[in-house]
Order: sequence, then structure tokens, then C-alpha cells
Amino acid sequence: MKKEKPSSTAAYVAALRALYTALPEPYRIAPDPLARELVPFPLGLPADLVARAPWAAAAVHHGLGLVTMGLSHYVPLRTRAIDDALRDAVAHGAEQLVVLGAGLDNRALRLDELRGVRAFEVDYPSTQRDKVARLDAVVPVPVPRAKSLVRVPVDFETDRLDQSLLAHGFDPAVRTFWIWEGVVVYLTREAISGTLAVVDALSAPGSRIAVTYSPPRMVMGWALPFARRALDAVGEPFRTPLSPDELDALLRAAGLTRLSDESSVDWAARYWSGLGTSRAIERLAVAEKR
Ligand SMILES: C[S@@+](CC[C@H](N)C(=O)[O-])C[C@H]1O[C@@H](n2cnc3c(N)ncnc32)[C@H](O)[C@@H]1O
Repeated sequence: MKKEKPSSTAAYVAALRALYTALPEPYRIAPDPLARELVPFPLGLPADLVARAPWAAAAVHHGLGLVTMGLSHYVPLRTRAIDDALRDAVAHGAEQLVVLGAGLDNRALRLDELRGVRAFEVDYPSTQRDKVARLDAVVPVPVPRAKSLVRVPVDFETDRLDQSLLAHGFDPAVRTFWIWEGVVVYLTREAISGTLAVVDALSAPGSRIAVTYSPPRMVMGWALPFARRALDAVGEPFRTPLSPDELDALLRAAGLTRLSDESSVDWAARYWSGLGTSRAIERLAVAEKR
């Protein structure tokens, strides 16, 4: 991350959510109407174009999926898979939500199921400042659907996540759902295990975490060197790919029990019945504190 610059990757994934909000069903699987308003120019233009040409939806969906080697598919798919895991956790008594590395995530502003849930968005300070400025410019200013929404600036590499959350009103006695979507690949192994240790220490029994990660051999095949160079250029180098076994070891070392582990191919089969990616670019593990 660059100290004074907001995350570029946060803007890219939000642009994909904006695009998939503008596309009609069955492509539209996790609508986020605010995404279009938050993404910087010119990343919102594809969403504007498909909104005017819904007849091009299939071509846009399949063409972009081909060109990006499935990357454009896995972002809306993982967002929907995590939305469903969050809904399930709330149905099972979660009363707090912590979004780690929130970027332009709008769950606290878009999900009615969170009306009884206190939400915390944790992010790198410059990314968070940029998001708040973008939200302030939206008219009318969006109101959280969550019971409350508190933003907590934290650098996972250098700051004390536990102290910051507690100082912002986090209650370790109530059941929490933690989301870590599209973040661990950009962190060092030390920051990943340190953050998981905090998740364990601050989690009441029955709390869960949904964490996405990129296994080494799945990451975009021959396109990986190009992706790496692009990420280096924006100051968000691709740091830590993890195999399912490595992630499981990190979860277990932190006292968390894995409940499920799926890839983008599984999500495509579930949400797009064959219309989506056949590339397992990213995985989502859900784990629980017993
Ligand atoms: C690809 S974006 C994902 C954003 C969001 N979770 C989503 O899926 O839309 C990566 C996020 O990780 C955050 N991030 C990267 N390194 C970080 C660090 N060292 N400390 C805190 N946040 C970090 C960035 O600020 C950015 O919001």
C-alpha cells in the first residue's frame, strides 16, 4: 500500500460489482447500487454502457470473462457467496460484523438483514479516508441498514487491530461475523497470522470468519507475471498465495475450525448454473470459533 494513496484494487473490484449491478439477471447476483457512485472515473463507464445496452449482457459477461481469464467472474461470485455466509451467520445469532480491509464494500449500507447488527469497517487509513469522502459526495448521503456503522483505520502490518477495535466500541462478548474478502493475498504471512490471532482472541464462541485466498497454482496461469507487474505498479504487490492446507493450518493455529472451503468454480455452479468461470482463481473458507 502507498501511504497517501487509496487502494487501487479496492476500486477495481468495486467497478466489477458496479458492472454486475447494471447487468440484468441471471448475471446480477449481488446487486450493490452504490458501487457505481463510489468508483473513480473512468472505472464506472462499463457499468454505464451495459445499463444502456442490456441486449449486450451475455457478450459482455462472457467476453470480459475470457479476456480477464475469469477474474471478472469471481468478484461478483465471491461477493454473493460471502453475502450468503453472512446471512446464515446472522440467522445463527451474529450481532456484530467486522469487515477487514473493507475497501468500497457496502454491505452495511445495502443488506437489510443487518438491521440488528453493529458493523465495523476496518481498512488501511488512506483507503478509508477516500471511501468516506466518496460517500459524503453521494446525494442523499447513504444511511446504514446495519444497526450502527463504525470505521476503524488500521494497517494490518503495523497496527494493533485488537486495541483499535476495542477503542471503537467492539464487544468481544457477542457473536461476530468477520469478513476478509480479497485482502490476505496482499499481506505478509506474519500479518495474516497476527490478524487471525486477534480474530480468535476477540471472538465469542460461535463467531465465524469468511476469508478469501488465492492458491499458488490457481492464480491466473500464464497471466500471473503480467498481473504481478500491474499490482506492483499500483503499490499492492501480490504477496502471499496460500494452498487450502496452508490456510487451514493458519486457521487451526489461531484456534478456528474450518466449516467449508469452496472455489470460484463451485460458486459459478451454484449461482450461475454453468454460465460462469471454469477457472478456480480464488477460494473462500468459512471457519468458526468453538
Ligand atoms: C482488493 S481490495 C478488497 C476490498 C474489499 N474487501 C472488497 O472485496 O471490495 C484490498 C483491500 O485491502 C486493504 N489492505 C491492503 N493492505 C492492507 C493493510 N496492510 N492494512 C489494512 N488494509 C489493507 C486495502 O486498503 C483494500 O481495501
